[in-house]
Amino acid sequence: MSTIPQSSPAASSTLANASTKSVTEASYDAIPYCSFPVPASHPDRMFNVARLFGLDPVLPESARVLELGCAGGGNLIPLANRFPKASFVGVELSKVQCDNAISAANYIGLKNLEIRHASITDINADLGKFDYVICHGVFSWVPDFVRDAILHVSSANLSERGVAFISYNTLPGWHFRGMLRSMMLQHVEGLEDPQAKTSQARTLLKFLAEANEGSNSMHAAFYRSEAVAFDKHPDQYVYHEYLEAFNKAYYFKEFVSEAQKHSLQFLGESDLPSNWIGNLNEKAKAKLEKVNDLVLRSHYMDCINNRTFRESLLVHSDAKIDRNVSADLLASARFSGSFKETVPSENPNSTADSTQKCYKLASGRVLTTSERSTQLAAEFLDQVYPCSLPIADLHRQIEDQLEKESMPSKIELKQLAASMIQWSLSGWIQFRFLDDRMKSSGFQKPKTTAWARSQARAGDLVTNQNHNVVRISGEDRLVLPMLDGTRDMESLANEMELLVRSGAIDLVLTDENKNLKGKELHRHAARQIVERLAANSFLLPETN
Ligand SMILES: C[S@@+](CC[C@H](N)C(=O)[O-])C[C@H]1O[C@@H](n2cnc3c(N)ncnc32)[C@H](O)[C@@H]1O
Repeated sequence: MSTIPQSSPAASSTLANASTKSVTEASYDAIPYCSFPVPASHPDRMFNVARLFGLDPVLPESARVLELGCAGGGNLIPLANRFPKASFVGVELSKVQCDNAISAANYIGLKNLEIRHASITDINADLGKFDYVICHGVFSWVPDFVRDAILHVSSANLSERGVAFISYNTLPGWHFRGMLRSMMLQHVEGLEDPQAKTSQARTLLKFLAEANEGSNSMHAAFYRSEAVAFDKHPDQYVYHEYLEAFNKAYYFKEFVSEAQKHSLQFLGESDLPSNWIGNLNEKAKAKLEKVNDLVLRSHYMDCINNRTFRESLLVHSDAKIDRNVSADLLASARFSGSFKETVPSENPNSTADSTQKCYKLASGRVLTTSERSTQLAAEFLDQVYPCSLPIADLHRQIEDQLEKESMPSKIELKQLAASMIQWSLSGWIQFRFLDDRMKSSGFQKPKTTAWARSQARAGDLVTNQNHNVVRISGEDRLVLPMLDGTRDMESLANEMELLVRSGAIDLVLTDENKNLKGKELHRHAARQIVERLAANSFLLPETN
């Protein structure tokens, strides 16, 4: 490979702009990025964090949203589809990716999304102000002058109550990956074809892992774990993440100080649990509790966790952040979480404490408790999952149940809210200040988004209401495109019958349905599919 192009501080900005534009644009034109939704960048997430910390962000459904480096629109299109009264602008340097985004948006008839083929460095005041600015997977992979433009736009084009999201490779963790990148760049020197470079980068890592088989050295373990991770990464990810011309990782402190130069301050991580000292071990927590400066504390957390990536939220430096979350505010929060009762893995036959129960969380973690109010909180949340419960409803349900069980009421609303926010910061459950964006029961005319329906028609990766991509297959993929809110459950049962008759679906008989005949069997099958899609957060509230 020829030498890595670097931005020259001495060059005029126009010249630097022109030359780098061609390097980056050519790279993404040649190998377009697989463009998927980024859950951490969802305006709901930014809204919730800003609200938790005492700000008054704009409701996502009526916001103006800007994405810098929007690639093929995989993040913006589902947002624009979900919030028809909000307006969205995506700015993207690669023409090929812009065209992909435009044709996908046109396909589902979006009227509130504009994709601009331009550089972030071209943006000025004419584009107007935005309530949410999203820049995911760009900041570390562009030259300094584009990085500067990202922060400039995130401030100058951010509305007064706005929140900006910027993700970037983080130090010290990226030192390890940087070592790998450096070896890969050495190895592919002289090669021009991106595909050949990617393939050679994979070959090198595989060789390094195999050459260290049996070794328990630190670097051997790292090569092996990266080789396993690489097997799951598509080529385009390997190429853009490791072999791009530019790649700069930041210590968190440095990133915050760059942001401050543009009159921006750190609000919080989009993933709050990843920056919460309560998730450290007791020794580390005790030490870091004494560090009052949030930025410095976060920096040491990155050192402890060898953090490689951050998704940070920024607001204007004069925004009045209040990190002492008030009880009044928490009284308006809603919580969601999955708690599946399970047997204790260590001693499944233990009868030492008959009141003890274990619950498996979505993260795989197990909660073990004998506290009845805690058990009830877990069970009531699980009943409505993936939807959420307002804290007052959760409290009432727990109190009613405790009374039925003739147990004195043990928990105050404020105390419950404080516990639920602790659970949220621990990453066990999620909090929100907005109504649910989905429905999990009581279906009349089930409905999914136009984007999900078009994705299911085209393939098996479909965006749900949590802004996640879920792989669906078989009958779920055939039925999802029918859920446009026009068919009731009886019509869906008729559709099932047609699909079965045509041979498109082969209904498998189980203990549950083996005694059902004709229409009953098709009704049961339709309900099962709808419930499965709802459990995967695909169904919209039917008022939408
Ligand atoms: C790694 S991709 C990330 C895409 C998308 N944000 C995501 O997370 O899936 C980086 C994107 O930034 C775009 N990009 C790089 N420099 C840019 C610039 N100066 N102006 C606009 N887009 C740029 C690239 O073309 C590419 O689509």
